[in-house]
Amino acid sequence: MLEETMGSLTNIFLFACIFTFTLWNNIQPTVGNEFTAHYSSSFLACVPKSQSRHTTVLDLSQKNISELHISDFSSLPELQVLNLSHNLIRELDFNVFKFNEKLECLDLSHNNLWNMCCQTLAGLRHLDLSFNKFKTLPICQEFGNMLNLEYLGLSATMIRKSDFRGITHLQLHTVFLTLEDLSHYESKSLTVLNTKNLHIVFPINKNFSFPLLYDGMNTSEKLELSNIRYNSTDFPFPPFDPLKFKTLNLRFNNVDLSWSILVRIFMIVWYTPVEYFTVKNLTFGGPIQSMTNTLLSYWAQSVYSGSSMKALIPEHIRTKVFSFSQDILYKTFSDMNIENLTISDAYMPHMLCPSHTSLFQYLDFSYNALTDELFKNCDTLTHLKMLILQRNQLENLSKVSSMTSKMKSLKHLDISRNLLYYDENENCCHWVGTLAKLNLSSNKLTDSVFGCLPINVQILDVQNNQIRTVPKDITELKALKELNIAFNRLTELPGCSHYRGLELLNIEENSILTPSSDFFHSCQNIRELRGGHNPFQCSCELRDFINFEKKSGGRLAGWPESYVCEYPDDLKGTQLKDFQLSELSCNTTLLLVIALVVTVVVVAVTSFLCIYFDVMWYLKMMWQWTQTKRRVRKSHPEDLQSILQFHAFISYSERDSLWVKNHLIPNLEKEDGSVEICLHERNFIPGKSIVENIINCIEKSHKSIFVLSPNFVQSEWCHYELYFAHHKLFSESSNSLILILLEPIPQYLIPARYHKLKALMAKRTYLEWPKENSKHGLFWANLKAAINTNLPVSTEMIVV
Ligand SMILES: *[C@@H]1O[C@H](CO)[C@@H](O)[C@H](O)[C@H]1NC(C)=O
Ligand SMILES: *[C@@H]1O[C@H](CO)[C@@H](O)[C@H](O)[C@H]1NC(C)=O
Ligand SMILES: *[C@@H]1O[C@H](CO)[C@@H](O)[C@H](O)[C@H]1NC(C)=O
Ligand SMILES: *[C@@H]1O[C@H](CO)[C@@H](O)[C@H](O)[C@H]1NC(C)=O
Repeated sequence: MLEETMGSLTNIFLFACIFTFTLWNNIQPTVGNEFTAHYSSSFLACVPKSQSRHTTVLDLSQKNISELHISDFSSLPELQVLNLSHNLIRELDFNVFKFNEKLECLDLSHNNLWNMCCQTLAGLRHLDLSFNKFKTLPICQEFGNMLNLEYLGLSATMIRKSDFRGITHLQLHTVFLTLEDLSHYESKSLTVLNTKNLHIVFPINKNFSFPLLYDGMNTSEKLELSNIRYNSTDFPFPPFDPLKFKTLNLRFNNVDLSWSILVRIFMIVWYTPVEYFTVKNLTFGGPIQSMTNTLLSYWAQSVYSGSSMKALIPEHIRTKVFSFSQDILYKTFSDMNIENLTISDAYMPHMLCPSHTSLFQYLDFSYNALTDELFKNCDTLTHLKMLILQRNQLENLSKVSSMTSKMKSLKHLDISRNLLYYDENENCCHWVGTLAKLNLSSNKLTDSVFGCLPINVQILDVQNNQIRTVPKDITELKALKELNIAFNRLTELPGCSHYRGLELLNIEENSILTPSSDFFHSCQNIRELRGGHNPFQCSCELRDFINFEKKSGGRLAGWPESYVCEYPDDLKGTQLKDFQLSELSCNTTLLLVIALVVTVVVVAVTSFLCIYFDVMWYLKMMWQWTQTKRRVRKSHPEDLQSILQFHAFISYSERDSLWVKNHLIPNLEKEDGSVEICLHERNFIPGKSIVENIINCIEKSHKSIFVLSPNFVQSEWCHYELYFAHHKLFSESSNSLILILLEPIPQYLIPARYHKLKALMAKRTYLEWPKENSKHGLFWANLKAAINTNLPVSTEMIVV
């Protein structure tokens, strides 16, 4: 029966392991270049086997691993870091790591370890066994051989002096001791340890042990104690010898004590060599009065003025007492003779001015409820260099400036994240002249703040306010080197005319559409400009800014990712570096010059063409033509019907007149009068211009006969005649042009501007005057036929 149960239990275990392996196989380990294996599944119940041999870092924290076997790690010779924290491991045999000679860091914290079998791991630097279930300290003889050990985490419920014997010769850096259920502490046990830092975590619900505090302070330079609680107002303080204390840096975390115990601990610490005392998460209960009075009387007698303490840093303070005289409490702090005091996150509404010249150099009262009444007319803070008042309730900037007026050494003031406002009509700012760094970020300041600035400020932070412009009429800030105006409402880049030495300017997250390039002229010393995250309007004006980037040699911080077009919509999201506009589309002068050049060229070309093709001449002739036609129409409207008097008009060169008179006219004008010809000698009307006569003649003739020859071509008048005849031809669309080629005309003889003639000769068939006598008959017949085509009845025509 029992065997059966055991068998099925083993089966269940095997099943669980197989199940988790399947799961793990589905979840790929994230393997980085360092061969880091990290498992996100939390179902792992045993160590996965299929690791790369090169794995150096193996994170198996927060799983359900309960057992370790030698085979788990034997194939990982390179393993350096193994994190097995937050598992369920109960027993540990260091032998399982005997093949991991390079193992340096082994984290076994937060397990259920109660038993351990030791073995030397000579390379180990970091061994964490804290938060386990050990009864006695898990320190074995072999640890003494681990000479590289720097960090040792331990846990136990009882501590005896002999437990540390094996490691007293080791030079440790940090010993971390968790005492979750401390039942026994043998006095002076800790002091045998040789470590720089000692951190003891007390159980959360138990009173802490004073002997441990004393021994801790006798052990290490830096001592950290967590969970300091004592549920009583009365406490038997054991005697101590303060001069033996080693600790210089003391830190308490999570403190819950009555005010009287707290003050007494403080008085003990005050006597010791401790220089830095930090208390984080402090809650205290009453009564307050009596103990505070004791403290104040000590202050008054200057009993504690010989303390080594330099800095007291209580942070995150809550009280369980609701009615007590706050002033008395403030006085214990304000009259303290130390250099640095931090009281942050304590709901503190006020702090008193020290009653005598104070040693304070550094005060940090951030995250409180301080108001403008702070340090009013206070002239004892003459050594103060740095004052941090971040996240308080300050409202009036002129009052804050007056507060500083007597702090003769003040260099750095942080009044960020308050409710500060400055009204430009106030005109009463009294900053101390030494102030070099001023943080005014996250307030309610407007443009007027530039009228209330310390004259020697070097670093000014006004980010996250409501500034729209940097006014033009502000006092010069010669020393200003860094100016942060990010997260405001600026619409343009402020120039540097009032702070010429500016080196760093931050104007991110404003409303700057197009940063003007004037900026770069006035800001000669600028080393870095942070201008990203503005709603840039990608247009021509932005080109100067982009060009500045090219010349700046990396002075534009955040380029190119943070510089993105917001407008116009089609460019939204484009990085400025990818935004390009041509020189032409942006440069108006260039555009004008180019337009001018183009116009000049067009005019020149047109004029050239006009001259070349004699366009003016044609135009002139057109003008005359239309003028004549109009005149003719006006003077003889009745003639319009019977205007055709002749069969043909003959145009010829004077030099060809012999041929015309001897051959052409006799052959055409036979005695029967069947063909009437308009000849300019014969029919020209004297007193009219030649052009008018030609036009008349052409108008009154059915056909125009042109006697073409090289002579004709050289006579300009002939050309006019041809032009008009051709014009008539087109205007009346009749077939009235007859060309006779008397002599062949070589193409080169025809002047270029007579392209009309050229075109006619190329297009029309012309009658060629044959040289042979025998062909003449046919020529005349042909010509007559050409004249007679489409002729109306000739007798009707000749009516005058
Ligand atoms: C091990 O893992 C835990 C939790 O995952 C982490 O807090 C701890 O810092 C790790 N230990 C080391 C030595 O990195
Ligand atoms: C006081 O605090 C300032 C600022 O953190 C620091 O620079 C200075 O060293 C501290 N002084 C001492 C004595 O610790
Ligand atoms: C700030 O304080 C000054 C001086 O006390 C006072 O004249 C001024 O009116 C106050 N300004 C505001 C905005 O309350
Ligand atoms: C000013 O204070 C804010 C926090 O309130 C901080 O982020 C910023 O870095 C500080 N500015 C300077 C110049 O130190």
